[in-house]
Amino acid sequence: MRKLLLSFLLSAALYSEQPVISPASSAKQPINQIRQMFYQISQVNAERLALGLSPVINLSIGQPHIGMNLGVLDPFIAYLEDLKKLSSEELSLEMGYSHSSGTMETKKWISKFYTETFPEVVEGFTPDEVMVTNGGTGALTNALNVLIESGDEVAVFAPYFAAYENQVKNSGGTLVPIPLILEMQRAQVLDEYLSTHPKIKALIWNDPNNPLGTKASLEELLELVAVLKKYPNLVIIHDEVYRDTVHNGPPLSLMNVAPELKPRSFIIRSLAKDILGAPGIRAGMISAPISCQTPDGSKVNFIELMSGEQLRDITSISVLVQKMLCIALEQKISGKTNSWELAMQKEYESNVEIFVKALSELGLRPLQDPKGCFFVMIDASSLLGKKIPGKGSALQNDLDIALFFLHTAGVAVVPGSGFGTELCSFRVSCAKSKEQLIEAAQRMKEAIYKLK
Ligand SMILES: Cc1ncc(COP(=O)(O)O)c(C=O)c1O
Repeated sequence: MRKLLLSFLLSAALYSEQPVISPASSAKQPINQIRQMFYQISQVNAERLALGLSPVINLSIGQPHIGMNLGVLDPFIAYLEDLKKLSSEELSLEMGYSHSSGTMETKKWISKFYTETFPEVVEGFTPDEVMVTNGGTGALTNALNVLIESGDEVAVFAPYFAAYENQVKNSGGTLVPIPLILEMQRAQVLDEYLSTHPKIKALIWNDPNNPLGTKASLEELLELVAVLKKYPNLVIIHDEVYRDTVHNGPPLSLMNVAPELKPRSFIIRSLAKDILGAPGIRAGMISAPISCQTPDGSKVNFIELMSGEQLRDITSISVLVQKMLCIALEQKISGKTNSWELAMQKEYESNVEIFVKALSELGLRPLQDPKGCFFVMIDASSLLGKKIPGKGSALQNDLDIALFFLHTAGVAVVPGSGFGTELCSFRVSCAKSKEQLIEAAQRMKEAIYKLK
């Protein structure tokens, strides 16, 4: 009996041993600096609270603070209520898997929405030319996966949205950042890159821009179009997830000024930032060429390919999310979202103004004029070399500066290097209440005054 008990205990002990499992090396991609800052925030927060200080003000993340556009809720709730009235057969059809590219209803609304957004595209967009995705991120992943393979390069203007790097790497390609040269036109620099990098297959064009917070002017768009026309096989991935946050006039993008780019364009939108202000709903969309010539003379349908990718990766997008997307697009097209949008744009405009003004008084100015969304990229080079009191060390780079603000001021910002720029800078998200922005600027001011 004792023997039996002993062997039972031994096997239980063996059973509770920790297994040894190695993750795939592809899963070990470095976490970008935005996330690294994010991980430190809760630790610093706990330290501050223990010292009786107020919590960290987190300006590191682009999460709309104004609350989502509530107009969609009533029709959505009515839809849910109506589900109860369906027969079990009807209900299982309604709640069943949708086609990977989306339900026909979703695709119709997306195509209608794209057609309205780009009236310059005379033929418009058909439901076959669009699909639903898991946010803007899913759209980007799909596009890169069907376009890019080992040996291909993808150009992007730096600083750029940090996720692009891993997304391009995951697709097998290489990201080629085109540095921001403050005194040079982007079109000119793009031309130089395209003429010297024959492996660049696609350009990711993000406007309004995260992290700069800028919006390209009509003149700049036209200059870019002139360059793009010199490279007719270059694919353009238009990341327009901030399209309607722009606060210096109506949104205008490359596709508005050059609809002829459509046969080589992948256009991305999302409910995350502007249409609903609800990133957690994870509804995105993309359009793509469906009858594109390939080098061997055959035709390719990129929506079909992306739909296949999406099917393999995640099966399909939740039908409830698609319903929410349909309601949001219906309301947007009919103008019902105008007042919410206007309030959102005004809020971001005044927030950015307040914060930029407060930091300018400390000699910290935006790298470029932020009129596009709620981000601002601040030139921090004037802080380099300054000494932190109580520590022998000086601020040597943008990461030191961001960590200094986090630890000394309790304000979280993201170092510019996290967005692939060598310009000593940090990004601030002004999607916060005015009180918090004013408080953050005040804390940063007090911290800076402590520097030697
Ligand atoms: C430039 C840019 N593109 C794409 C995305 C991803 O959008 P979503 O949250 O809809 O996946 C973001 C999100 O922050 C972004 O800033």
